[in-house]
Amino acid sequence: MNAGETIIARPGRAVSGRIRVPGDKSISHRALMLGAVAEGQTVITGFLAGEDCLATMAALRALGVSIDDHDPDRIVVDGVGPQGLRSPESALDMGNSGTGMRLLAGILAGQGFDSELTGDASLCQRPMERVAGPLRQMGAQVETADGCPPLRIRGGSLSALDFVSPVASAQVKSAVLLAGLYADGITRVTEPGITRDHTERMLQTFGAQVRYGDQVAEVQGPARLTGCEVTVPGDLSSAAFALGAGCLAAGSGLAIEGVGINPTRTGVLDILSLMGADVSVSDRSMLGAEPVATLLARPSGLRGAVIPEALIPLAIDELPLIFALAACADGATVISGAEELRHKESDRIAVMAAGLRKLGIRVDESTDGAVIHGGQIQGGEVDSGGDHRIAMAFCVAAMCAQGPVTILDTANVATSFPGFVSLMQSIGLQVANG
Ligand code: S3P
Repeated sequence: MNAGETIIARPGRAVSGRIRVPGDKSISHRALMLGAVAEGQTVITGFLAGEDCLATMAALRALGVSIDDHDPDRIVVDGVGPQGLRSPESALDMGNSGTGMRLLAGILAGQGFDSELTGDASLCQRPMERVAGPLRQMGAQVETADGCPPLRIRGGSLSALDFVSPVASAQVKSAVLLAGLYADGITRVTEPGITRDHTERMLQTFGAQVRYGDQVAEVQGPARLTGCEVTVPGDLSSAAFALGAGCLAAGSGLAIEGVGINPTRTGVLDILSLMGADVSVSDRSMLGAEPVATLLARPSGLRGAVIPEALIPLAIDELPLIFALAACADGATVISGAEELRHKESDRIAVMAAGLRKLGIRVDESTDGAVIHGGQIQGGEVDSGGDHRIAMAFCVAAMCAQGPVTILDTANVATSFPGFVSLMQSIGLQVANG
């Protein structure tokens, strides 16, 4: 990976068109993992071939799973069954992916062999006790390095757990539920906020007995999963950048087709609406267990807003974009209750605040959020901190800048949104690899 990669984003508001975005990252990881430990074949269409999901694919292959990805539109996973994974020869490198590491830890906790999970410099600074703790309570031996990766897991026979999570995190919930597939009895996770429920929906599709809702999810173990067909919707977290661009545009509107609109993910649409964005949802349908729709963004006069804290977990990955849009909006936007942003691929509060300030925007940072004072963005140079979503957020902010914005350290855009620059160019965004 080339940490020196840059994107140069120039001002311009002529954005319009009709596009699709790559597949959902969360759902792609889960389809691979559940397919791997299911019995029979799983066929995945719409899979996100981004670096994060490819790291999960490589890890599962190292665990003895045969995955055919010759046709990128039809990934075939030959499930090995619940106990069919094999001891890997070396540490599993999950790259930049917290989802890959935390969810796979849940599965590895139920295996009769030792394993080690590691990752890149960013991932190796992210908190892992949040999954190690409950997995230990279930009976696995899990070591971390001062709370961070590498994770060393000695799996074994697990006990069901009634876990009250101190953090609203779908990754923690999912790790515990996946370990629960290997335990005898009901494993339950209660959360302090609503988080994405893709694991619960997909487990049901694979035949597990799952109940969920009201910040509680539970699975009956031991479970045997049956391979199936998974069609992955477009990723709302990727679509959000195009939506934001469509709102800042002076064009005729931008439509994005086939986007996942799972209600545990649509906080960004509510926040955009609070900020005065003209975004509409049409052509609703179901793609397997997940709802999808076409999203249409029209030129909007954005205004600052106080973001309700209940929306934060439902929009957690879109908050860098909200920082960027807030900088272009009229008035102040207040974000609070978002301390989790400090534990993502970068400290997203600090990195967004520093970048926006460099571009002339006033940002008052707090421990769990920021107040962003909308204003005139200047041209200049900002550092993405190697964080894909921050790099893409600054591309959108640059639409309103007075001169070109050079965004540093952008190679990781490929972790979640391969083809970002060319797709954004196709709708009129003035972006180019530097
Ligand atoms: C994800 C959950 C979220 C999100 C991440 C993907 C998932 O993390 O930020 O990008 O696929 O479960 P947390 O669950 O840690 O909030």
